[in-house]
Amino acid sequence: MIDVHCHLLPQIDDGSDSAEKSLQQMKLMDDGGITDAFLTSHFMRGLYKYDRSDYDEKLSAMQTKCAENGLKLHLHAGFEIFVQPNILADIEKNNLVMGNSRYIMVESDLNGLPEDFYNYIFPLLRKGYKPILAHAERYVSIMKHPRDARHLIGNNIYIQINSGSLLGQYGEKVRQTAWILMRNGWAHLIGSDDHARVPYGSYFKALELLRDDLDEHVVELLSTEFPQMILDNKPIPYKYVYIQPSYSHSHRRKKSLWRRIFH
Ligand SMILES: [Fe+2]
Repeated sequence: MIDVHCHLLPQIDDGSDSAEKSLQQMKLMDDGGITDAFLTSHFMRGLYKYDRSDYDEKLSAMQTKCAENGLKLHLHAGFEIFVQPNILADIEKNNLVMGNSRYIMVESDLNGLPEDFYNYIFPLLRKGYKPILAHAERYVSIMKHPRDARHLIGNNIYIQINSGSLLGQYGEKVRQTAWILMRNGWAHLIGSDDHARVPYGSYFKALELLRDDLDEHVVELLSTEFPQMILDNKPIPYKYVYIQPSYSHSHRRKKSLWRRIFH
C-alpha cells in the first residue's frame, strides 16, 4: 500500500510539528503494511512557501531517521499546491511534482472550486503535468453536484479521496460524497491526509470498509496499483472500472418516482 497524501514532513506546514511525531506515525504506517508515502506538504503563496532545497533537506533528514529506526517505509517528495495565479511558475521553479513523475497534487478553496479553475489547470496539462485533485469530496461544489467529478475526469484531472472522509471524519455530507465518488468509479487514489494530530489509522479502516462495500480489486487499484503508477510515472487510466449504475441514473429514477406519486 502507498499513501499518496500526508503532511508528515515536520515543521514545514500545518502538519506534523516534530520529527518524533512524524516517526510515530510512520511506524504505524510501516506496521500496517504501507511501503511508500508521498509527503505532500502544502504549497501556497503567502502561507506555506519554501524553496525546494529546504524541502529536500527535511525529506532527506526524515528518510535517514526512518532508516535508523529500522523502518522499511520509503518516503517520496510531494506537494499539495493551492490553485492560484502563478501556480505554473511556482511548479516549474520548484519542481513541485510527486516523486520523479509528472503528477502534481492540487487543492483549491473548499467553499467550492472557483469559476476559473480550469483556466489554471489547462496550462498545467499543456505542459504535460498530470493534476490530481486532493480530497475532491470536501469541496462544497462537488458535495452539491457529485456528478461534476465526471467533468474533472473528462478534463484529465485525477481524483483523490481522503480515507477519513469515508469514515465520516469531516461530517456526514462529505462522507456521502466520498462514497458516491467511490461507488461510481470517480476516484483514482486514496490518501490519509494525515496531519499527525491523532494516531495514524484511518487509512487502514477505510480500506476495510471499501473491501466490504465494494470489492478487493478496487481497493487494490486505489491503494496500491495506481499510486505505484505515480512512482513509475506511468499513465493511470482516467476511466478504470464500471462499478454500479451511475449516480445520474439512480437520481433520475428517484425523481420520476417522486413525480409519479405527487403529480
Ligand atoms: Fe492535505
